[in-house]
Amino acid sequence: MVSKQPWMLVLLVLIIVSLESRWSEGCLEQERFALLHLKPFFNTLHDLDSWVEGDHNNSDCCQWDWLECNHTTGKVISLDLYGTRDEEMGEWYLNASLFSPFQQLHTLYLGGNSIAGCVKNHGFDKLSTLNSLEELYLNDNSFNSSILSSLSTISSLKKLLLNDNKLKRIVDLQGLRLRNLEYLDLSSNIFNSNNLSSLSVLSSLKALYLENAGLEGSIDLSGY
Ligand SMILES: *[C@@H]1O[C@H](CO)[C@@H](O)[C@H](O)[C@H]1NC(C)=O
Ligand SMILES: *[C@@H]1O[C@H](CO)[C@@H](O)[C@H](O)[C@H]1NC(C)=O
Ligand SMILES: *[C@@H]1O[C@H](CO)[C@@H](O)[C@H](O)[C@H]1NC(C)=O
Ligand SMILES: *[C@@H]1O[C@H](CO)[C@@H](O)[C@H](O)[C@H]1NC(C)=O
Ligand SMILES: *[C@@H]1O[C@H](CO)[C@@H](O)[C@H](O)[C@H]1NC(C)=O
Repeated sequence: MVSKQPWMLVLLVLIIVSLESRWSEGCLEQERFALLHLKPFFNTLHDLDSWVEGDHNNSDCCQWDWLECNHTTGKVISLDLYGTRDEEMGEWYLNASLFSPFQQLHTLYLGGNSIAGCVKNHGFDKLSTLNSLEELYLNDNSFNSSILSSLSTISSLKKLLLNDNKLKRIVDLQGLRLRNLEYLDLSSNIFNSNNLSSLSVLSSLKALYLENAGLEGSIDLSGY
């Protein structure tokens, strides 16, 4: 078949070559710079030592540790910064704008980093343009409920982990208006009331975790 129609073979080779060249484009320069900007905040345990703008052999940041790219676009789709910061350095404030260059980011792990909040004018609302961001892991940090309203602007979110933080004022959950959110973990916080009716704004919610969240007795879920 192929030998009778050599043009098909040529076409096949052309397709493979073009796929290969897309593949080898590697990461985008803009995103590589953004990763290098992030590094000093998250590399106190040296997990990110492979993030160096070295020679040609290392300029493809898609090959760096703890991240994943889309092979077609070369854009970062997943960043895993769980526990990359030394706890002994204490609590600190994150500049969320550092993540805004990753326009195709789908999953972001920021757990276990002693983050107490965001720096002024650079909260999570700066990530509202990341239309692919569906999974955000903020567990095991020191966030209080003031974080909730800024998270509401990331309307693409489907999965949000806020367990093991310092959320307290349950009424502030009203500020969490994420119409696509399906999974919410609020375990291991210290809520001050049982009235969860403020969560009724989460119209797509399928799974809610509240283990060890200071709730006792009956829980008010009116509005569901
Ligand atoms: C590759 O890059 C690393 C870090 O930039 C460098 O230490 C190493 O010498 C390079 N290897 C080659 C073969 O160029
Ligand atoms: C990679 O990006 C392309 C173009 O945006 C998209 O069609 C594809 O689904 C993406 N693949 C993954 C695994 O995200
Ligand atoms: C936060 O990050 C952005 C983007 O990198 C930068 O322009 C801004 O100066 C930073 N702000 C603070 C307070 O660190
Ligand atoms: C909550 O965290 C913010 C910083 O994100 C801080 O300014 C505020 O004082 C904290 N509120 C409480 C009640 O701890
Ligand atoms: C629960 O809180 C909502 C407002 O968030 C309020 O309207 C409702 O009356 C409260 N329910 C109880 C039993 O206090």
